[in-house]
Amino acid sequence: MLKQSEDEPLSTKRDEILSEFLGDQERGKRSGHCMVRKQAPEGEVKIEGLSFAHPQSEHYLFKSLTISISQGEAISLLGPSGCGKSSLLHLIAGLTFPSRGSVSVNGEQVRGPSPKVNLMLQKATLYPWLTVLQNACFGLRAQKVSKREAIKIVRPLLRLVKLEHLEKRNVRQLSGGQQQRVALARSLAMNPSVMLLDEPFSALDTFTRVQLQNEVREICKREKITLVIVTHDFDEAIRMSDRIMMMTNRVGADIVSEIDNRNTFDSISSSSEETIASQRARITDLWRNQEQDYCI
Ligand SMILES: Nc1ncnc2c1ncn2[C@@H]1O[C@H](COP(=O)(O)OP(=O)(O)OP(=O)(O)O)[C@@H](O)[C@H]1O
Ligand SMILES: [Mg+2]
Repeated sequence: MLKQSEDEPLSTKRDEILSEFLGDQERGKRSGHCMVRKQAPEGEVKIEGLSFAHPQSEHYLFKSLTISISQGEAISLLGPSGCGKSSLLHLIAGLTFPSRGSVSVNGEQVRGPSPKVNLMLQKATLYPWLTVLQNACFGLRAQKVSKREAIKIVRPLLRLVKLEHLEKRNVRQLSGGQQQRVALARSLAMNPSVMLLDEPFSALDTFTRVQLQNEVREICKREKITLVIVTHDFDEAIRMSDRIMMMTNRVGADIVSEIDNRNTFDSISSSSEETIASQRARITDLWRNQEQDYCI
């Protein structure tokens, strides 16, 4: 029987369930191309000498981009519209491929989408004819996990995102914030080592947005899930990330500056509004100056 201790990390619970259900050999198959080799920690993302141009485009979005993100680290990507933030997430998610250079996750070169790398978009992409529980189970069911086992994995997650009381409700009858929570539970059920968030909370009201930012940040830190967040909201970057990277629209240029946010982030609940405001002012300055090649 599975232990259901509240303090036990979800990944341990999930691993126990999957191990019990599939056996260790079968678990390797579920993780697809990103089967974890033990040399690289789970969730490590390495981008090396990346250049990339969209097939129909005449210019390169990245010239020689190199970024290293360690397991459990949270990175925000800020930058003007069209500078390539979403394209970079798609490259990490294996939806597009580098023109030159490489992108690897868990020490394996990315060759296509994997359940280990989860992409969350601005609007939750749920199945409108299904209930909360069915939507949250969807990824597991697609991986041939039985209904019973999928529910066993998903229920604690629905509790975590505070939706257990709505599990039988059709997702069309939920608010935008609640729909994003279902998408979050569905993502977490897949036991991702990396979560890629493309402006995931921008359509939500301030209160719900801040609440979800805190929840996602806490879950990912606790579960050691690597987080890459694309955002236009400076406060979101300050609240959610260890490092903030500023990208530019200049043709062929990559990251123009990197801001260490660990001190603000580590103590975010105890940080004074003054500390947060000074970090915000710093980012605003960089944002204003990035068009003029300003670098720190
Ligand atoms: N499939 C595609 N084919 C050709 N060009 C594309 C494609 N997708 C995006 N682009 C172009 O690549 C550039 C970067 O697009 P991307 O969506 O990555 O920008 P972004 O930084 O996410 O912008 P935003 O903040 O507006 O979402 C843009 O100039 C865009 O027009
Ligand atoms: Mg985008």
